[in-house]
Amino acid sequence: MRNLYVPYPAVIKTINEETYDTKTFSLVFQDGKRQQEFRYKPGQFIELSLLGYGESPISIASSPSQIGYIELCVRRVGRVTEALHRLSDNDIVGIRGPFGNGFPVEQMRNKNLVFIGGGLGLAPLKSLIRTVFANRRDFGKVTILYGARTPSDLLFRDELAVWGNTDNAEVLVTVDVGSSDWQGNVGVVTTLFSKTAISAQNAVAIICGPTVMFRFVIQELFKIGFAEEAIMLTLERFMKCGIGKCGHCNIGPKYVCLDGPVFSYKELKGLPGAL
Ligand SMILES: Cc1cc2nc3c(=O)[nH]c(=O)nc-3n(C[C@H](O)[C@H](O)[C@H](O)COP(=O)(O)OP(=O)(O)OC[C@H]3O[C@@H](n4cnc5c(N)ncnc54)[C@H](O)[C@@H]3O)c2cc1C
Ligand code: FES
Repeated sequence: MRNLYVPYPAVIKTINEETYDTKTFSLVFQDGKRQQEFRYKPGQFIELSLLGYGESPISIASSPSQIGYIELCVRRVGRVTEALHRLSDNDIVGIRGPFGNGFPVEQMRNKNLVFIGGGLGLAPLKSLIRTVFANRRDFGKVTILYGARTPSDLLFRDELAVWGNTDNAEVLVTVDVGSSDWQGNVGVVTTLFSKTAISAQNAVAIICGPTVMFRFVIQELFKIGFAEEAIMLTLERFMKCGIGKCGHCNIGPKYVCLDGPVFSYKELKGLPGAL
């Protein structure tokens, strides 16, 4: 049986610099059997460990349709993530997991999907977006609204362009503060709602980003007519163990590491400190 406490060694195969502070790491478990057995759902996370530095929860950015490796997109913010950013190809890290519930992909089948991502929040959404495009006929229209602080903070520019050129899909991007060479939209992510026609009919909205963004985005979705249970959020709360033992991640009676990180608005509404 898989031991939830034991980190399994994984080798860094490639490192892609997304922005000045964010890199995508492609990883393969050292033990081929572990690699084969490692199954996950979009929206799940792992605990990434570096000897001498500690452990951090990180969402899996790849999709289960990408066989043989996993991808993590990590922003450099502190002790563990700075140490990770100093590593190179063939260096070893530890991985526990996968943990958390993940997105209810089956319930999303045949629905129109509206993704709203803020900053690094596009990384956890990417796993689901890739899953949807890998099984394109199983889902309806895909709309992606993505906002970052500045043009140099924008993640996955190449993929955004590819997704936007896919049949029955639309991608709208904005930045809070533009630059001299930025010709796109300037304003917070909610300004994108008036630039496209989003319908709540047969649709699910999926949000990931800073907490303050959640509140404004949810207001917009209510105006359009989304029901509470048709709004899904993935939360990035302070975590330690990832397996329901330490109590670092709870919101009221819910443990983000076990019950989440994906919740519907209906589940979170009214829980103190949730949004
Ligand atoms: C379910 C989940 C999924 C996540 N997915 C990703 C991901 O895909 N990519 C990614 O880059 N990060 C992700 N994070 C956040 C990541 O875990 C933290 O940035 C990381 O643990 C920071 O560790 P550190 O040792 O580098 O920083 P520390 O030295 O611990 O802290 C640096 C600063 O960041 C703050 N901080 C630490 N953890 C968090 C947190 N969880 N939320 C807000 N502020 C925090 C600290 O208060 C401090 O100000 C996720 C978090 C959770 C809970
Ligand atoms: S992180 Fe320890 S209980 Fe959730």
